[in-house]
Amino acid sequence: MTETGSADLDRLLQGKVALVTGAGQGIGRGMALALGKAGAALAIADLDGGRATSVVEELRTIGVDAEPFTCDVGDRGQVEATVAAIIDRFGRFDILVNNAQASRVGIRFEDTRDEDLHLAFNSGTWGTFYCMRAAFPHLRDAGNGRIINLASSSSTHGRPLHAAYAAAKEAIRGLTKVAANEWGVHGITVNVICPNAVTPAGEKFAREHPEAAQAALMQRAIRRRGDAEHDIGATVVFLAGPGAGFITGQTLHVNGGGVTVP
Ligand SMILES: NC(=O)c1ccc[n+]([C@@H]2O[C@H](COP(=O)([O-])OP(=O)(O)OC[C@H]3O[C@@H](n4cnc5c(N)ncnc54)[C@H](O)[C@@H]3O)[C@@H](O)[C@H]2O)c1
Repeated sequence: MTETGSADLDRLLQGKVALVTGAGQGIGRGMALALGKAGAALAIADLDGGRATSVVEELRTIGVDAEPFTCDVGDRGQVEATVAAIIDRFGRFDILVNNAQASRVGIRFEDTRDEDLHLAFNSGTWGTFYCMRAAFPHLRDAGNGRIINLASSSSTHGRPLHAAYAAAKEAIRGLTKVAANEWGVHGITVNVICPNAVTPAGEKFAREHPEAAQAALMQRAIRRRGDAEHDIGATVVFLAGPGAGFITGQTLHVNGGGVTVP
């Protein structure tokens, strides 16, 4: 068993305000816990308001200042209202983590429907774009703004049966690289994480495609699945912190390595 990292990095992010989208469960929840333990105040946005509220209750229990927002990130008006509400509630905005994503996977390319692309792009690509555009002036004003977008090695490696998902995620990497080059002058860094972690979505995929899931695990250099808080969250805390201010436009695979496996 290999060790996981520690996300509790001496309250490195004290005084910062972070928004994590799709943080009602899974990797989003884990990243929110890590950011909160590192000292940040948290805006928790999710399409499912009940999930957002329960993560906020969890954060408040451990002393983190947090607020839930019910928000479909694929809806420009809802995103703009959420960002305005974050400024009202917290007075500043430093860290944006674009994590929300819905998709149907496990579909052959030729069977992929228009709706599959719309679902993946609305929640992933449009959601990331709307959040980045709305957050930009606040991150610029705060100084040392940080944006971390979630993509996937399924997109960077072109994993079979993931056409709509991969297309949406590669578009997010395009947005990331352009914003990094435009906004670096304001001290804002923009990076991508391609994670692997045990989550409800991952468990569902493993149940539906057990052989593919086992094969993926066996080809991973570090033969375990990641931990949302202690592996992915710890990386986000680093990228959001002062030690990562010279890293931008990059894609970081936080997935236990491996040669061929997404
Ligand atoms: N789980 C993995 O191992 C893995 C691997 C590669 C990439 N990723 C990426 O990491 C991120 C998190 O993955 P996860 O497995 O925790 O996902 P998940 O499906 O478990 O959780 C996603 C959350 O996003 C919310 N959401 C969906 N559509 C939304 C919308 N339009 N607006 C607001 N919220 C919305 C859902 O309600 C849910 O709470 C995603 O971007 C995913 O593509 C995950």
